[in-house]
Amino acid sequence: MSRVALITGVTGQDGSFLSEFLLEKGYEVHGIIRRSSVDFRERIAHLEGKANFHLHYADMGDSMSIVKVVDRVRPDEIYNLAAQSHVQVSFDSPEYTANVDATGVLRVLEAVRACHLEDRCRIYQASTSELYGKVEAVPQNEDTPFHPYSPYAVAKLYGYWIVKEYREAYGMYCCSGILFNHESERRGETFVTRKITLAAARIAQGLQDCLYLGNLSSLRDWGYAKDYVECMWLILQQEQPDDFVIATGVQHSVREFADLAFREAGIELRFEGEGADEKGVCVNGPERLIGKTLVAVSKDFYRPTDVVNLCGDPSKARTQLGWNPSKTSFEQLVKLMVEHDMAKVAAEGVAAHVRTNLAEYLEKGIVK
Ligand code: NAP
Ligand code: GDD
Repeated sequence: MSRVALITGVTGQDGSFLSEFLLEKGYEVHGIIRRSSVDFRERIAHLEGKANFHLHYADMGDSMSIVKVVDRVRPDEIYNLAAQSHVQVSFDSPEYTANVDATGVLRVLEAVRACHLEDRCRIYQASTSELYGKVEAVPQNEDTPFHPYSPYAVAKLYGYWIVKEYREAYGMYCCSGILFNHESERRGETFVTRKITLAAARIAQGLQDCLYLGNLSSLRDWGYAKDYVECMWLILQQEQPDDFVIATGVQHSVREFADLAFREAGIELRFEGEGADEKGVCVNGPERLIGKTLVAVSKDFYRPTDVVNLCGDPSKARTQLGWNPSKTSFEQLVKLMVEHDMAKVAAEGVAAHVRTNLAEYLEKGIVK
């Protein structure tokens, strides 16, 4: 009999990679999706129709919908990845963020109890390095004190503690993976890394003039999402439930990420100025770009409180889970994202050109 997994947030970056990973392991995979007026299932489109892959409508803000799915699926493992996951957006929608990212976790735990699955269903909670927030130590490990620094992080801190509480109060097998930033060619387009790789590709291909960013000095520990979903699974395969930091242990600034991404797109930048006046000027690359400002700072992307110094210590994951934090290097990650976006932008350019000229082509009988 295949093991049964239920993934909330299946349409997201991590949900899509995790689905692939579990299907390859022979799991029957069920995912929760929510209704949308446009199709947001792009990341899992290639999995739909597979015999072991099933989707169910539910919403993290709707307890009954979660209970019904849990009861129907009766999972061996739940991966709770669904969240309003954008930190800056959490300042604009703090109450919604709390409902989904904090109370949503409680709804999943209670659904498991309501369906009398607490003795056999294991639960993974997508926790985050944002808990360290205004950091009290660098690097951060499982013992570093938390200091959440956004409505998102405060909501996720509730998720972390309620998981711990249900583990201790009811003996449930539930764990938090404290994951540091992980990126990929499937990353949402408003997170800084993807925003940069898409802009570098568009600027290189003449479709964008300048990239506006916020805090260029912010430091992150960036890994590859595909490597990180393996940890989610490993965490649920341990004899005893426990929490783990998942990170590479290597730190880079937003500026360094941009510098390398543009280089991969064939553009060399020189950064000059400071703070809101800092600029990335093209010093090498296509003739038409030399001397132009391709990266500039906009205060629109500053946050009321910003987390600026994240670097994880993955020692526990390395020793206890046997996980390799250096599988994909920072340089490989930037390269694979830029390569993907260069191809995507080129394909979109061709499609746009065809759309623009369609009337003329139809008229001339070039296309029918
Ligand atoms: P993501 O791409 O933004 O995906 C979020 C998922 O949650 C999407 O499938 C989204 O559905 C779903 N969702 C949001 N609100 C929902 C609701 N009310 N009901 C049902 N589903 C809802 O995020 P990700 O990068 O894959 O991250 C996965 C999880 O890990 C999140 O909990 C995030 O906070 C956490 N995390 C991420 C990172 C990282 O660096 N990526 C690091 C640490 C922790 P739609 O597609 O319909 O919007
Ligand atoms: N998004 C964005 N856009 N961030 C920018 C920009 C910009 O134009 N310019 C600078 N930044 C800075 C932010 O201020 C932040 O310090 C850093 O880049 C990273 O921002 P994001 O890519 O939005 O990610 P995040 O670190 O805030 O949150 C992500 O990682 C968390 C784990 O630490 C999300 O995936 C969260 O869901 C996750 O928990």
